Amino acid sequence: MSQHHEHQAHSNHDHHSQSHGARAHGGHGPVVHAPSGAAPADYQRAYEQAEPEPGGTVVRVDLEAREIDWEFVPGRTTRVWAFKGQVPGPSIDARVGDVLEVRLTNRLSEPTTLHWHGLRLPAAMDGTDMVQHPILPGETFTYRFKLLDAGTFWYHTHSNEPVQLERGLYGALAVRAAEEPVFDRERVLVLSDVTLDGSGQIAASDDGRERRGGREGNVRLVNGTSEPELMMWGGQVERWRIINAASSRYVRLAIGQRPFRVLGTGGGMLDAPTTTRDVLLTPGDRIDVAVGPFEPGEVISVLSEPYDRGMGERSAELFATVRIGPAAPSHCSVLDWPREIAPLAERDAAPTREVAFSERIDVHGGVTFLINGEQHYRADPVTVGELQVWDIVNASSMDHPFHLHGFFFQVLERNGTPPAYRSWEDTVNVPAGGRVRIAWVADDRPGEWMYHCHILEHHAAGMMGHFAVVRRGNDDDASGRSTA
Ligand code: C2O
Ligand code: CU
Repeated sequence: MSQHHEHQAHSNHDHHSQSHGARAHGGHGPVVHAPSGAAPADYQRAYEQAEPEPGGTVVRVDLEAREIDWEFVPGRTTRVWAFKGQVPGPSIDARVGDVLEVRLTNRLSEPTTLHWHGLRLPAAMDGTDMVQHPILPGETFTYRFKLLDAGTFWYHTHSNEPVQLERGLYGALAVRAAEEPVFDRERVLVLSDVTLDGSGQIAASDDGRERRGGREGNVRLVNGTSEPELMMWGGQVERWRIINAASSRYVRLAIGQRPFRVLGTGGGMLDAPTTTRDVLLTPGDRIDVAVGPFEPGEVISVLSEPYDRGMGERSAELFATVRIGPAAPSHCSVLDWPREIAPLAERDAAPTREVAFSERIDVHGGVTFLINGEQHYRADPVTVGELQVWDIVNASSMDHPFHLHGFFFQVLERNGTPPAYRSWEDTVNVPAGGRVRIAWVADDRPGEWMYHCHILEHHAAGMMGHFAVVRRGNDDDASGRSTA
């Protein structure tokens, strides 16, 4: 255990950043978030309590964020911001019961933070500016928490997001259970996009932010490369963990117009695989699928089918091409795994609260994005162990992906219809003019949490709510953490 101590020393030192008070919102919107005075102690406690389960290990990752040259398009160099010299950052692989310890050193010219999208971690490690001060240039901050759930997650900057994510500050995290189905190969495909100008550089971000629906790039990426070619052996079946890390682009994923099996979603495995031909991935969303087998010589397009999110329907867009090579033996285990997802509530359960997405045109013709009529909405506390049934209502004319930090929910119904399968989610699409009912229960992780639209420009513009999770009969547990 003694090897942990050096990191504790670092983390203490890191708190020097808390006195600077520098904010990083890219100049848009008022500053309304700040960690409470209790945040350093909460952080220290969370850090010290993170110990692996017996048989588990501490997975250590050093992420240095700095500007580098990267080829999104082969032969064409773009200045990007990268973790550990690559876009996306390194794919992190770990097991349930491990502790993940990530040291982030900021060599950028502006502050940053790191959010662990989809993970059930202590609030103090959530990487938002409700729980920590941004990591200033030159500083190091250590995230340390136990991995409780198997699934496909991802990490991304939670500061000046529309700019910092496009420049490359995101990566994948796969957490494995003790028993997982076996496939011939596993891949992680991180989908994203960038907007490159004529000289191959990332175009000025203001262009994108002014677009009402958020920035959709002119170059589509898989693992940091524009429309790559992948190779797969004939007759084999692969597991693909797919993450939509784009700012605002919806991906209605199709794989060669063939049926494929969905194994899991953002919150891990389904209770049984289900077969489909396309699946909608909003920004922030993940899907775990079994792909193949294909015949030798086939060419399979991985693309986004037309989908209208209220911004007009696009034609199909290519993300990657898969060339099928000669046949190879296949060694997949039975597609069967032990998981039961017990329903949290009936479809007609009475909602305990409503979260309303809306937009408003201001006098200058700009658009304001709102939750319950406000930017940066302060929502009521949520009590540990109490069933939450939330109706998420979208009064606007475009879809918005709702993302809840730190807790999984079940979708009970969407526009009155139950979902095709029961799953755990942290991100769900709320169609224009539509209504989605979700259910969730906060486990015992009190502190400051948030939800927001995962269209990064909307989030940055204030389409988010924050709230305290409090223990029963202890209402002041997380009080005093309200915002200005
Ligand atoms: Cu991936 Cu606050 O979100
Ligand atoms: Cu939105």
